[in-house]
Amino acid sequence: MSPDVQALFDAATTAMGRAYAPYSRFPVGAAIRSTSGVIYAGCNVENAAYPQGWCAETSAIAAMVSAGERAIAEVLVISMSEGLSTCCGGCRQKLREFAPLDTKIHTCGPEGVRQVFTLDELLPLSFGPENLEGF
Ligand code: THU
Repeated sequence: MSPDVQALFDAATTAMGRAYAPYSRFPVGAAIRSTSGVIYAGCNVENAAYPQGWCAETSAIAAMVSAGERAIAEVLVISMSEGLSTCCGGCRQKLREFAPLDTKIHTCGPEGVRQVFTLDELLPLSFGPENLEGF
């Protein structure tokens, strides 16, 4: 793993350890590197009113935007699951707001990176901010 990806992996792993997932018991951690080079991490935060919970990617995006940044360079997501921790559809769209289509999304398990996708691969033919230009 490159030092850059390792830093994302470490931040996402720490965040996953802080996940609040008493209902699904499916902790997730996400880390975003902004174009300035800063890493923002987040975890899923569930709620007794189930639909009110939110994903790790959403937390990481909120941390980045709250810090005054709006440009994503790279994303890493980790869970303890045996399958691929690809982002849910809603999070793919949320990432689309702040990330170019060639942004790499590293999907990981505790042992390391399993597969890398571009945002365009995870969200093909997507609708983004530029689709609203002129309206
Ligand atoms: N979850 C995430 O945090 N990110 C994803 O990309 C997929 C799902 C969370 C939501 C919920 O708290 C738990 O994982 C089970 O769906």
